[in-house]
Order: sequence, then C-alpha cells, then structure tokens
Amino acid sequence: MENFEKRIKRVLITKEEIDSAIQKVGKEISDFYDGRPILLVSILKGAFVFMADLCRAITAPCEIGFMAAKSYYSGTESAGVVKITMDLDQDISKYHVIIVEDIIDTGRTLKDIVKMLKARNPLSLKVVTLLDKPSRRVVDFKADVSLFTIPDHFVIGYGLDCGEYYRNLPYIAEYDTDIK
Ligand code: IMP
Ligand code: MG
Repeated sequence: MENFEKRIKRVLITKEEIDSAIQKVGKEISDFYDGRPILLVSILKGAFVFMADLCRAITAPCEIGFMAAKSYYSGTESAGVVKITMDLDQDISKYHVIIVEDIIDTGRTLKDIVKMLKARNPLSLKVVTLLDKPSRRVVDFKADVSLFTIPDHFVIGYGLDCGEYYRNLPYIAEYDTDIK
C-alpha cells in the first residue's frame, strides 16, 4: 500500500494509556458482576483487539461471544446501513451481557444491535466502548462505559481499520485523509 506510514498522522492514544484504562474497567466489571454469569459480546472485526485485552483484565468468570456487523464498507464515510453478517451462537437469556465495541460514531450500529439483543431477554445488558465520538451522533445512543472520548477524526489502529489496513497498530492514531 502506497504512503502506508505517511497516512498515520499522529498518535492520539498510546498503548500505555489504553492498557491502563482497560485494567481499570476490567476491575470495575469484575467487582460489579461479583461472580454472576457474564457474556462478553464483541462486535467484529473492529473490537477484536479490545475484547482480547479487556477479557484478560477481568478476573471474574466470563464467557465470550462474537457478532459481526458492517456499516463502513471500505472508506472513511459511513454507508448508513447496518448489516449483521454473523450472529451469536449462545442463548443469551442466562447471561449478563456486556457488548464490547471499538467505537461509537453515528450510533446506528449499536442502537440496532442493542435492540436486537434486548429482544432475546438477557439478564441485563450493558455497552462498553473503547472510543466515543459524540459529535458525530445521528441517533440517540449512549454507552454505559466509554474509555476515551475523541473529537471528530477518523482513527485507525488497535483493531480499527481504514480499508482493512492498520488494525494491527498497537495504538490509536489519526488517519490522514488528505494524502491520496
Ligand atoms: P456507527 O454505527 O456509525 O456508530 O459506526 C460504528 C462503526 O463504524 C464502528 O464499529 C467502526 O467499525 C466504524 N467506525 C466509525 N468511526 C470509525 C473511525 O474513526 N475509524 C475506523 N472505524 C470507524
Ligand atoms: Mg465496529
């Protein structure tokens, strides 16, 4: 890919900052649920790195599940369509469900997913997001826990992509949309 490095404009959140925020939330979750059955539901692909680190910061027993949703097709603009491309294989009615998401932008993806999962009667349902861009919201949606609030920049790294690249960066960076 041409200009691969150059498009990483600047680091917004370092690996150390992410790690320490995750340790704190992991402890809060472990204390709050206090041994009750937890199912962490990660929304692929973007949340896979966050899920891997968050589940290891939780000391209480927990299970994991995956769903896949697509709303951005290959660029930096939302297509405005949310499609579930892979569903959970668990019956969630026996669990306290925690949705683990990478970023809330317009809010459409999570609003739809929350509605869908609530209809399956989990014991409870909460949303934990690594990043939140509240200034971009087009539907009313608020996460229960948000680790970092960021301005309206397109970001990459730590699971988040641009055209499927950059998910493997260990930090969150601003993507340079001016470089063609
Ligand atoms: P929403 O439905 O607009 O809230 O979109 C959420 C999804 O869009 C996220 O789960 C990401 O996959 C993607 N997304 C939103 N903003 C960004 C960004 O800045 N970088 C990479 N992906 C993003
Ligand atoms: Mg996502």
